[in-house]
Amino acid sequence: MKTLLVGNGAREHAIAWKLAQSPLVSELIVAPGNAGTAKLGRNAPVGAEDVDGLLALAQDEGIEFTVVGPEAPLATGIVDRFRQAGALIFGPTAAAARIESSKMFAKELMVRNGIPTARAETFTDYGEALEYLTAASLPIVVKADGLAAGKGVVVARTLEEARDALRRQMVELEFGDAGRRVLIEEYLEGSEISVFAFVDGEQVSGLAAACDYKRALDGDEGPNTGGMGAYSPPVAWNEELESEVRERIMVPAARALAELGSPFRGILYGGLMLTSDGPKVVEFNCRMGDPEAQVVLPRLKTDLAAIMIDVVTGKLEGLSLEWDDRPCVGVVLASGGYPGAYRTACEIRGLEHAGEDALVFHAGTRLGDDDTVATDGGRVLTVCALGDDLAEAREGAYEAANRVSFDEAQFRGDIASEGPLLR
Ligand code: AMP
Ligand code: GLY
Repeated sequence: MKTLLVGNGAREHAIAWKLAQSPLVSELIVAPGNAGTAKLGRNAPVGAEDVDGLLALAQDEGIEFTVVGPEAPLATGIVDRFRQAGALIFGPTAAAARIESSKMFAKELMVRNGIPTARAETFTDYGEALEYLTAASLPIVVKADGLAAGKGVVVARTLEEARDALRRQMVELEFGDAGRRVLIEEYLEGSEISVFAFVDGEQVSGLAAACDYKRALDGDEGPNTGGMGAYSPPVAWNEELESEVRERIMVPAARALAELGSPFRGILYGGLMLTSDGPKVVEFNCRMGDPEAQVVLPRLKTDLAAIMIDVVTGKLEGLSLEWDDRPCVGVVLASGGYPGAYRTACEIRGLEHAGEDALVFHAGTRLGDDDTVATDGGRVLTVCALGDDLAEAREGAYEAANRVSFDEAQFRGDIASEGPLLR
């Protein structure tokens, strides 16, 4: 199959790397891609959110199968458009993607179906929301209903912080329409893991799990980011927990979407808090996580393209996923200043040696005319390694990360390190 992959992050580089290994994939085009995906196929200069442009590209190129990495085009209906045009595409429809694109939709679905989650109230009126806050216990979580690139959630430790978040979302519309509706949610105490299942509308595959480090600085300090590192599987993950999460959370969510007439076909991502009261859902997403994909996909032994075709054609039943038992650790190298302002166009050195025993997945990188690679975004690379145990995987990832350099590079030194952050 001539295959099109949509996206340009390290998640998409990892997906591209896995698809390129499949005998089912004859040729790979990535739109818009980065310097890493350019080595696995051909990049096409069409933005990941330009649904019309992507459909035209797929038709011009005679694409036989399309895979969508990020949530934004899924939420705006890329899958619906491609299907209407008779094209084979992996990912949920806009209606099924509401499980990520509307936190209110997701919350109602969970409550109706008895899926364990944080208690929450939804508000469209600023005054009512403010009044509710005043009586609520702290900490409390304020969430914009719509997509806000991971920035629409504030865990407020003080009433002042909570009020401030509410004003920015509902009055100043910092995230545009996404903040016109706001959820005020109970704070869940526990450790957080991300779980992933392939879902074909009816069937739910076995699960993969990973831990993501969202804060910018060591010790989980500093601002939230898109993710500064990850490892898989989490220390807390075992068969018993997998079957509990599958039966109480992932299967009921898939069933509920199917019953609503919007069956989910794609990768369902559960962001969970492991509380003293069992696993509870913090959020659902309609795609793989970034950086979780970079540490989960190296452990997947099954042909990814074959799984994705089974998902799209509703033939997941009986498929068992095969995993490498070795853990994988991924460290994100980011531009200095990220998630705030940062420089781009800094030359990246040492890439040729970093990849000898490790996997280097590109995010914000650009290939120069003379084959040099330069920075082109906040998160630049995810450097990953497998190891016989977590310590070995971590050493491998950091050894490789230290072989790469660019001006003002920053990365956390404590990804998958022993201590309270190891979940
Ligand atoms: P979300 O975009 O919903 O994943 O939220 C971003 C982050 O905020 C999550 O990954 C959690 O670390 C934190 N968070 C969200 N909701 C809650 C909650 N109810 N209790 C505690 N932490 C939360
Ligand atoms: N790693 C968090 C996310 O992909 O949403």
